[in-house]
Amino acid sequence: MTPHNNARSGDYAEAVLLPGDPLRAKWIAETFLEAPRLVNSVRNCLGYTGAWKGRPVSVQATGMGQPSTAIYVHELVAVYGVRTLIRVGTCGGLTTDVKLRDLILAATASSDSTIVRDGFGPFAYAPGADFALLSKAVQLADAAGMARHVGGVVSSDIFYQPAGIEAYRTLIAHGVLGVEMEAAALYTIAARLKARALAICTMTDCLVTSEEIDVEARQTSLTDMVTLALDLAVAEAQTA
Ligand code: HPA
Repeated sequence: MTPHNNARSGDYAEAVLLPGDPLRAKWIAETFLEAPRLVNSVRNCLGYTGAWKGRPVSVQATGMGQPSTAIYVHELVAVYGVRTLIRVGTCGGLTTDVKLRDLILAATASSDSTIVRDGFGPFAYAPGADFALLSKAVQLADAAGMARHVGGVVSSDIFYQPAGIEAYRTLIAHGVLGVEMEAAALYTIAARLKARALAICTMTDCLVTSEEIDVEARQTSLTDMVTLALDLAVAEAQTA
């Protein structure tokens, strides 16, 4: 038990999917998992454990943004012994090379958050994905014929940037592909606590063209991303 989580020891599987939205956690559990069981309901930030292809897996909502994500990731690893954390989220596109519905497998996550800045002295810490998770995700996505990119995202604390896409110009010039709000904190806390993490993001809105995914495509894309993440979670649990 923690101030944010009323699950008991042993309630979480070794591998946990992390959507931001609690209702997406519920949807993932009820749609995909065998015998899903609610393990956390504090603040309605829902967490479930069930099985996928006969193997235990959990899903826990993180809420929006890096402070909230950092709390759930810290407690999942430090208190509940979770080893593998896979974010399943959406992102805004920063380049027309990434099409609506494409997946970004976030190799790195730049950030404006104090979570990745404080404590590193003069250094700019470089939050990155676990390589084994990332390479297995690439393999699974390619086998399933999913359009995917491997590269950088930026995890920003600011959704409504007053400068819009201009705020990201220098990052774009350095190859950053998408903007979201959680991956850098996930990578930083996971690294600190010696757990493995990957953020998988579906591009749902392009900041260059202002195109947005429609409701039906959003659902199909989420299904593709979640099945990829679940396959990754159980594949990695076998080799962890
Ligand atoms: N900005 C930040 N986070 C996001 C976006 C965005 O445009 N789209 C999806 N998540």
